Amino acid sequence: MEDLRIGVIGLGLRTSLALAAHRPGKGSVVTALCDSDPAVLKRQAGRFEAEYLTEDYRELLDRPDLDAIVVNTPDDTHERLAIDCLEAGKPVYLEKPMAITVEGCDNILRAARRTGTKLYVGHNMRHMGVVRLMRDIIRKGVIGEPKTVWVRHFVSYGGDYYFKDWHADRTRTTGLLLQKAAHDLDVIHWLAGGYTTRVNAFGDLMVYGDLPRREPGTPRPEGWLKDFDWPPTARRDLHHVVDVEDVSVMNMRLDNGVIAAYQQCHFTPDYVRNYTVIGTEGRLENFGDGPGDTVKVWNTGPAGYRGEGDITYKVPAAQGSHGGADPEILAEFCRFVRDGGVTDTSPVAARMSVAAGYMATMSLRDGGMPYDVPALDPELAAYFDNGQR
Ligand SMILES: NC(=O)c1ccc[n+]([C@@H]2O[C@H](COP(=O)([O-])OP(=O)(O)OC[C@H]3O[C@@H](n4cnc5c(N)ncnc54)[C@H](O)[C@@H]3O)[C@@H](O)[C@H]2O)c1
Repeated sequence: MEDLRIGVIGLGLRTSLALAAHRPGKGSVVTALCDSDPAVLKRQAGRFEAEYLTEDYRELLDRPDLDAIVVNTPDDTHERLAIDCLEAGKPVYLEKPMAITVEGCDNILRAARRTGTKLYVGHNMRHMGVVRLMRDIIRKGVIGEPKTVWVRHFVSYGGDYYFKDWHADRTRTTGLLLQKAAHDLDVIHWLAGGYTTRVNAFGDLMVYGDLPRREPGTPRPEGWLKDFDWPPTARRDLHHVVDVEDVSVMNMRLDNGVIAAYQQCHFTPDYVRNYTVIGTEGRLENFGDGPGDTVKVWNTGPAGYRGEGDITYKVPAAQGSHGGADPEILAEFCRFVRDGGVTDTSPVAARMSVAAGYMATMSLRDGGMPYDVPALDPELAAYFDNGQR
């Protein structure tokens, strides 16, 4: 089996994914790199043996030697770049979130259908051990039929990761309830077996609105992801535009009747996702979200507080970035490019997570008014449900 030859567009923080795709002799090799910033391109080139470097992504689209393209650029560029790749006939791995608006997602889905080119959206949490374990527990019926899902997301390094660059600017992301939460909204949908139809949310910019910012055009500070500041109010060198919320809470009703809630805070001391799923015959909760952490189930009762639970499951060991999810998702993408077929990620689900996050952001900026989530064109949904055939 020959390696798939992959071109990567965008070599910032998410170069971790490009490195997971570079496995010469083991299925895929990165042979072409693109970043619009020449300094970044030069710096990252040494980590790959890429034959071709360019600052203009359009130059990758005509190269017959590329089997697929990975798009790792900021969210507001996804729609244009993904559509251009699809129209050039290049199968595309598009990072999450799919786009920053519902319309942007639908334009990408329509381009995939029109061109017949394979589209894959990188919701790597579907390949995280803790998520797969929770899904297995639910599918085996250990907690009965899932009825409500509650997620708390503690983002300790939020001030550094999300308020020192483009993430903090709503024109480039819509907001963090879409940008960051797209992962968990997708997982909520996957665990609950439905898609959100109605949302409301509250949120605010509580801590990072008043801290010192950098001048426009100045790069992210040296060591910005190594030297974390504490307490959060000690953070400096924020992006010159900061107008997204650092706290948000969101409620959802799904099309199968499940009710869910998601909460996100960017100034916690610790980083962790905490999920609780309550079914008709029990409840699960994760304690830690990486390899070696646990998911506990309580499925006898009723009782008072019981810290131990009835069953404790361990999240399996894994190698690689994002708790082993990145090598797994890349392997799935390569299989999909070669053979097609069913995948654990889904472009329709990716669109539905953006749609829920987008409408929740509209709600929180409108005093918490409930909003309906626009339905996807059923013909488009059918095309993707049928494996893009
Ligand atoms: N799935 C995950 O776990 C995960 C984790 C982190 C980031 N992401 C996603 O990956 C994407 C990239 O995030 P990041 O943190 O690496 O951003 P980043 O700002 O660190 O890097 C983005 C890079 O893209 C380049 N770029 C911008 N526009 C370009 C264009 N038109 N052509 C070529 N290069 C261009 C920039 O110069 C920069 O080097 C985002 O969509 C983000 O949501 C996903």
